[in-house]
Amino acid sequence: MAQKKRVAVIGGGFSGIAAAKAFAERGHDVHGLERSRDFGGVWEPSRSYPDCRSQSAKDLYCFTDHSYPEKVPEWPAAPDVHAYIHSYADKHDVARLFRLGTKVEAMERRADGQPGWTLTLIKEGDDKESASKEDFDFVSVATGQFSEKNVPTHPGEGDFTAQGGATMHSSDYTDPSIIRGKRVVVLGGSKSALDIAVNAASNGAKSVTIVYRKNVWRLPYFIGGINFKHLLYMRAQEEQFDGWLPSPVGRALRLLLKPLIWFNFRGLEAVLTLQLGLKKHNMVPSEPIEDTVSCSIGVVTPGFFEALDDGTIKAVQGSIERYEEGAAVLSNGDTVPCDVAVMATGWKQGIPFLPAEAQHKLVDDDGVHRLYRFAVNPDLPDLGFVGFNSSFCTVLSAELVANWLVRFADGQLGNQATTDEMNANIDKMQQWRREERPVAKEYGGLCVAPFHFRHFDELLKDIGATKQHRANPLVELFVRPNTAAYGEFLASAPQYRAV
Ligand SMILES: Cc1cc2nc3c(=O)[nH]c(=O)nc-3n(C[C@H](O)[C@H](O)[C@H](O)COP(=O)(O)OP(=O)(O)OC[C@H]3O[C@@H](n4cnc5c(N)ncnc54)[C@H](O)[C@@H]3O)c2cc1C
Ligand SMILES: NC(=O)c1ccc[n+]([C@@H]2O[C@H](COP(=O)([O-])OP(=O)(O)OC[C@H]3O[C@@H](n4cnc5c(N)ncnc54)[C@H](OP(=O)(O)O)[C@@H]3O)[C@@H](O)[C@H]2O)c1
Repeated sequence: MAQKKRVAVIGGGFSGIAAAKAFAERGHDVHGLERSRDFGGVWEPSRSYPDCRSQSAKDLYCFTDHSYPEKVPEWPAAPDVHAYIHSYADKHDVARLFRLGTKVEAMERRADGQPGWTLTLIKEGDDKESASKEDFDFVSVATGQFSEKNVPTHPGEGDFTAQGGATMHSSDYTDPSIIRGKRVVVLGGSKSALDIAVNAASNGAKSVTIVYRKNVWRLPYFIGGINFKHLLYMRAQEEQFDGWLPSPVGRALRLLLKPLIWFNFRGLEAVLTLQLGLKKHNMVPSEPIEDTVSCSIGVVTPGFFEALDDGTIKAVQGSIERYEEGAAVLSNGDTVPCDVAVMATGWKQGIPFLPAEAQHKLVDDDGVHRLYRFAVNPDLPDLGFVGFNSSFCTVLSAELVANWLVRFADGQLGNQATTDEMNANIDKMQQWRREERPVAKEYGGLCVAPFHFRHFDELLKDIGATKQHRANPLVELFVRPNTAAYGEFLASAPQYRAV
């Protein structure tokens, strides 16, 4: 029988809400802790830049039992996503479990020798001296992968800002009025960079230059006229990538179909190159697309290539070397006039409040996390992670892993691996990332894409779901995940309540 626990859920984004619901549903005493004043995480209005839309379509970027309102577009805008998170929290009455404006500053094993952890909490506006400590039997970390800003600094920045220039991280670009009439330089070549460059160009910036290090494949919302959700999220497509721990039959099949798979990806590259005009912009990536598909592959911001065409955005390959008065000097020697420099340079991975010895167990020297099923480290008891299985449908992956984690914590998984089995699996996964699929090391190795079905199959099997697939094998092979169906699969697992 599962014992009722006092559970901390750290973070109030999609993953924290999913974790709070999953643990509360099983009868646990849940305490959500969110440092911001509102739910939403990356979608919280104070962190969300104007015109930001989801990359995932709304039927894929949702929980199993809750749809977006009909009027919300296929790719919801940030306020739509934020409202959706609130409506889900209301529907399941989980908002009351959270303390907002409460930051977890540190955590340590409990001093009383009991299982669990002691968290050091600081309320917004309080100083470290006013911190309080609380004991929990289990801690679920749901702090996301995009919470600690990566803000590079460059020589000359002090003088540049003293002379009226401004530098900021992409997540602080929340009001386009600051760039009106200004010369903007955006550093970075990923999704935030493109979104902000387009936003600045269409909101009255005097000039916009995007400075990026390497050419990468990006997907338009419609590839050759087809919504990309119909192409990318299939089991049949997923099987063409080098997935983790392939069965001997799977490996043999892939080998047999290698020429066909090769043609498929070359075809996709040709379509993307033509459709986006990559050649004329000198933006054809050198790496084969199949080696680069992971959570970092971004959707093209509508208007980006059009703005390159008409010259409203200029793209330069390189980096910022230093600042001079009213200018950024680039690594290629160019001097670009600059009043505002936006660092769309991403995020640092890691969990700063974890004690050093726990960090050491959690993260290998190359920055890749050691997590079984992207959720637990067998050497860190009474601790689990939700949302560390980022994907192209992150809300569904967070909900599934939250349901896995509560059963793991309660010893109620149908397939509960031993410590040795978990460590052996982690070692094999690390080896796969290092030797077979280096792109899987991105973002701390915390991305399951494009292997959604494989990951979801593993979780459901462990959970003991008796239904794991849709009835029609062709639908299962060629159609994207159906979030509502995953709700049914979860419901087919043995149910219990902690007492
Ligand atoms: C602009 C943007 C758009 C995106 N679009 C998509 C998309 O279309 N599709 C997709 O699949 N993914 C997308 N992603 C990825 C996105 O991160 C996930 O989809 C999802 O929102 C992550 O939710 P989360 O709850 O795991 O993390 P977050 O949303 O990052 O939430 C983590 C929360 O933890 C809190 N927190 C952190 N540290 C502490 C602490 N010490 N104490 C207390 N609280 C703390 C933070 O304040 C935050 O509220 C996008 C990411 C960004 C940045
Ligand atoms: N609308 C949306 O849905 C949306 C919007 C924004 C973000 N997102 C998602 O959020 C996640 C984070 O995206 P992101 O764009 O914020 O970050 P990111 O994907 O981590 O990209 C960071 C970019 O900054 C560059 N960079 C990092 N450090 C640098 C340095 N010191 N000098 C020069 N360049 C540097 C990187 O270049 P290298 O590759 O060369 O290292 C990369 O191009 C992604 O999953 C993305 O899909 C979604």
